[in-house]
Amino acid sequence: MEAQRLAPFLLLICIGVYDCHLQPESLISTVEDSVKFKVHGTGPRSVLEEYALYKVSTEGDLLLFNFSLLGGSPLKAGRVFFDIVDLFFELVNSTLYDSGAYRLEAWLDGRITYQRNYSLVVCPSKIELHILRAQLNGSVQLCGAGSKGDPMTTIQLYNYSLMSDSPYMLMLDTNSPMERLPEDLTDRLQVDLNSSSVTLQGVTEQDYTKAYVCLILQSGQCQSYTLEILVWERITLYPRMTARLTLPCHIKPTSPHQVYWTTPSGNVTLSTGDSSQVPHNDSQQEEKMYMLNGSQTGDYSLIIPSVKEHGKYSCNRKKTFLEYEISMCIGIRSTNATFSNNETVKLDCLAYGEIQWFRQRGADTEELILDSEDKTVLLPQDLRGRVNTSLTPFSLVIANPTAEDSSVYTCRVKIPDSNSFKPATCLENQIRLHYEDPYGINSAFYKVHASLMGCGLLAMASAVILV
Ligand SMILES: *[C@@H]1O[C@H](CO)[C@@H](O)[C@H](O)[C@H]1NC(C)=O
Ligand SMILES: *[C@@H]1O[C@H](CO)[C@@H](O)[C@H](O)[C@H]1NC(C)=O
Ligand SMILES: *[C@@H]1O[C@H](CO)[C@@H](O)[C@H](O)[C@H]1NC(C)=O
Ligand SMILES: *[C@@H]1O[C@H](CO)[C@@H](O)[C@H](O)[C@H]1NC(C)=O
Ligand SMILES: *[C@@H]1O[C@H](CO)[C@@H](O)[C@H](O)[C@H]1NC(C)=O
Ligand SMILES: *[C@@H]1O[C@H](CO)[C@@H](O)[C@H](O)[C@H]1NC(C)=O
Ligand SMILES: *[C@@H]1O[C@H](CO)[C@@H](O)[C@H](O)[C@H]1NC(C)=O
Ligand SMILES: *[C@@H]1O[C@H](CO)[C@@H](O)[C@H](O)[C@H]1NC(C)=O
Ligand SMILES: *[C@@H]1O[C@H](CO)[C@@H](O)[C@H](O)[C@H]1NC(C)=O
Ligand SMILES: *[C@@H]1O[C@H](CO)[C@@H](O)[C@H](O)[C@H]1NC(C)=O
Ligand SMILES: *[C@@H]1O[C@H](CO)[C@@H](O)[C@H](O)[C@H]1NC(C)=O
Ligand SMILES: *[C@@H]1O[C@H](CO)[C@@H](O)[C@H](O)[C@H]1NC(C)=O
Repeated sequence: MEAQRLAPFLLLICIGVYDCHLQPESLISTVEDSVKFKVHGTGPRSVLEEYALYKVSTEGDLLLFNFSLLGGSPLKAGRVFFDIVDLFFELVNSTLYDSGAYRLEAWLDGRITYQRNYSLVVCPSKIELHILRAQLNGSVQLCGAGSKGDPMTTIQLYNYSLMSDSPYMLMLDTNSPMERLPEDLTDRLQVDLNSSSVTLQGVTEQDYTKAYVCLILQSGQCQSYTLEILVWERITLYPRMTARLTLPCHIKPTSPHQVYWTTPSGNVTLSTGDSSQVPHNDSQQEEKMYMLNGSQTGDYSLIIPSVKEHGKYSCNRKKTFLEYEISMCIGIRSTNATFSNNETVKLDCLAYGEIQWFRQRGADTEELILDSEDKTVLLPQDLRGRVNTSLTPFSLVIANPTAEDSSVYTCRVKIPDSNSFKPATCLENQIRLHYEDPYGINSAFYKVHASLMGCGLLAMASAVILV
């Protein structure tokens, strides 16, 4: 057919069926899978229409299948099928060479009644599924598996709905100068071609309803196909009971919307007329939580002078902006143990995991003395050189202990849930360590141990004095 003939009819299609400036519909398939070229449309179509599928190339368009009910066409031509009920062509047993541009046309009485362009990418059959845990306002890497630094590497990012059958939408193609990014993403996507990575920043609640497909192509050929699903990750905190806690929330101060916090004990708002960042009543401040007035600074953090309730704490401006989960650690054990001079003291935690050790001496406030996840936490001066670090963090082994080491030692361990979306289980083990005069009546060897709950996760809890 001559191109001339097409032009006037295209106008019709533009109004009735599809916007002419629409990008080709993106189709992604994997080797040996099938792919559907659908006739999307409004309104009924005539059974007299003929449907043609072309593979488009610079050498000329190749007619793959021309279906005409009146012409008595079969429903199959090579690897292409036509579905007369739901009106789509299906290409089965895809190969990498099927990648490229396609065009579907419907004809009636020698006139084009429908036209649609497609862009098909066929990828190797292995699809990787990535569950990306992202915090609100956090950032998350959507792509990041390409061959590094290859100038022929390009990245294509598509959005994709898990809920509906809506088509993939090409959002980013590093090989194409065309800017297709929706407005809400232009500032938020960061592309690093060196590592073939794309990072989404400032994750919003809307982002969680979306999934993304990331293709890494080399010289135009698909190398990898990953389906990225964003899931909400709350910021889970495990403060000590009655500890003072600040939950940060920074929101651009330009917003006219009121910022407030929801907490298990009710809403926290800025009390009107209070322009200071500190409530008037000092004794109240010690106990009641309050939020900062960020109208100038953008800092709307919630200050909890003494943590009492666990649950969800969220910072809201119209919608939830940031959400925290305050989780309490369960006190599992409390034991007493004694030691004498020069015996090596060995204190064991409950289980393996993320371990913290706290020490409280006399009336002093409790101090964090060891943190398996935070190397900046240093042993206090008096313990340095006396702790056998080869056994930490599970065991705290103190050599040459003196009466000064009599303290309450608390080990806290976080055991990740096998369902990685749930907060970790946090357990605590408290050991009151007493100095005992070696020549006293109840002297010498003291050993406490007990097996716990028969639960495989938990190791033996023991406070053992090694001689
Ligand atoms: C498709 O086939 C019908 C009848 O078999 C024919 O009239 C028509 O010209 C063909 N269309 C194309 C695009 O080849
Ligand atoms: C697709 O591949 C399968 C198995 O490889 C084969 O049995 C089938 O005939 C193929 N279908 C077509 C239409 O080529
Ligand atoms: C399909 O692509 C051709 C160029 O290959 C273009 O002329 C035509 O307008 C496109 N059709 C639609 C519906 O976008
Ligand atoms: C993809 O993004 C476009 C533009 O933001 C949007 O219109 C479309 O609904 C999105 N599709 C899916 C499947 O999320
Ligand atoms: C990418 O690599 C090139 C050359 O190796 C280097 O000049 C450039 O700074 C790198 N870019 C990034 C964002 O790392
Ligand atoms: C959101 O992220 C930006 C940039 O990382 C940061 O400046 C801001 O403080 C964050 N807001 C909250 C509420 O954490
Ligand atoms: C907290 O404030 C929000 C918004 O003003 C309101 O919808 C909600 O009902 C309030 N909740 C409580 C417990 O007051
Ligand atoms: C917050 O502070 C601003 C000035 O910094 C003041 O105008 C405003 O009234 C304060 N808001 C509340 C609710 O106290
Ligand atoms: C401050 O708050 C405490 C506790 O709510 C209350 O007992 C006390 O009377 C308040 N003091 C003043 C000056 O309002
Ligand atoms: C540990 O010793 C304290 C006194 O120092 C005592 O009150 C507590 O009951 C003892 N606990 C156990 C488990 O023996
Ligand atoms: C503890 O050891 C030190 C030297 O390591 C020694 O001087 C001291 O007498 C010992 N004390 C006891 C009670 O054994
Ligand atoms: C630390 O403890 C391990 C196991 O009990 C032991 O083999 C090692 O010699 C100890 N290291 C020091 C410096 O005491």
